[in-house]
Amino acid sequence: MRILSGITSSGECHIGNYFGAIRQHVAFQEKGQGIYFIADYHSMTSVRDAAERRRLVREVALDYLACGLDPERSILYRQSDLPEVCELTWILTSVTPMGLLERSHAYKDKVAHGLPVDHGLFAYPVLMAADILIYDSDVVPVGQDQKQHLEMTRDIAQRFNHLYGAEVFKLPEPHILEEVAVVPGVDGRKMAKSYDNTLRMFWPKSRLKKAVMSIVTDSTPVEEPKDTSQNLFQLWALFASGEEKEEMFARARAGGLGYGEVKKDLLERLWAYFEPMRERREALAARPDDLEDVLVDGAARAREIGAPVVTRAREAAGLGPAPR
Ligand code: ADP
Ligand code: TRP
Repeated sequence: MRILSGITSSGECHIGNYFGAIRQHVAFQEKGQGIYFIADYHSMTSVRDAAERRRLVREVALDYLACGLDPERSILYRQSDLPEVCELTWILTSVTPMGLLERSHAYKDKVAHGLPVDHGLFAYPVLMAADILIYDSDVVPVGQDQKQHLEMTRDIAQRFNHLYGAEVFKLPEPHILEEVAVVPGVDGRKMAKSYDNTLRMFWPKSRLKKAVMSIVTDSTPVEEPKDTSQNLFQLWALFASGEEKEEMFARARAGGLGYGEVKKDLLERLWAYFEPMRERREALAARPDDLEDVLVDGAARAREIGAPVVTRAREAAGLGPAPR
């Protein structure tokens, strides 16, 4: 089984990315050949600074490796090290109906908010389809927010196969991580890189403390019962066993529990949870050349799998000289 997924390097990873994506990607590598990439082509619609783009690729790569991605077993690479994916994007673009892209939530949301959109954002689902189809991927584990993109991928692949009368592309099975709840941010909205409401697993403790202390709560006095659906309790519960959760939530409902106590405990749990990963990350960060080697080696292995698929698509579409 071939498993493919990626993370856009549009910012430093936070615990929402960890629980919603990275942790699942790491678990999936036991189940087959994992191929994971850092989507720096995708970052181009939001990150507009060259040095920052390179920095973010390194940060996300370190996050992945620190969190347990094993580069011997799985392939980890930087998307732009395989420019073939852009050729495939063009091949797919020409069989993608405008109407399909116009229905994309990501694009519609931006337009609805009056934000400027460029063609890159509009065409984003086609690049994502190429990311997936280039490896004959069987399973693509992604969060709910990416479900529509996978449906589009299947649609686009079917159209190409139908038009050129060949089974060039394999239709991937989505694996939607439905059991993964959306991790709330410190302000109660979804935790997201672009909202400045994140808790980052590898921040220094002082910065993490500041962020945890800033978690917004209601103003219920200490003695009163607390509403455990608040983001503080949801965040705390990520680091607690079922039993601990029951106990803490019962105390909250009974009254007498202060938010300060929960925040302090959350900080300690968060710190301890990521401690081994933090140590691994520091060791990896001290050897930047080794990190680059991992990515370059990953790209070479990815190319071995991907290049024949692009050749297949070129031949089916009549691009280049006829095969002899
Ligand atoms: P962000 O929203 O911070 O920009 P991305 O859109 O790059 O994050 O998402 C990368 C991965 O992390 C996706 O698979 C997404 O489903 C997951 N993810 C992002 N934010 C959260 C969150 N708050 N809770 C759970 N999963 C999340
Ligand atoms: N769009 C995904 C995100 O923002 C990242 C991504 C790009 C991806 N290409 C992919 C995920 C292909 C899975 C498969 O999280």
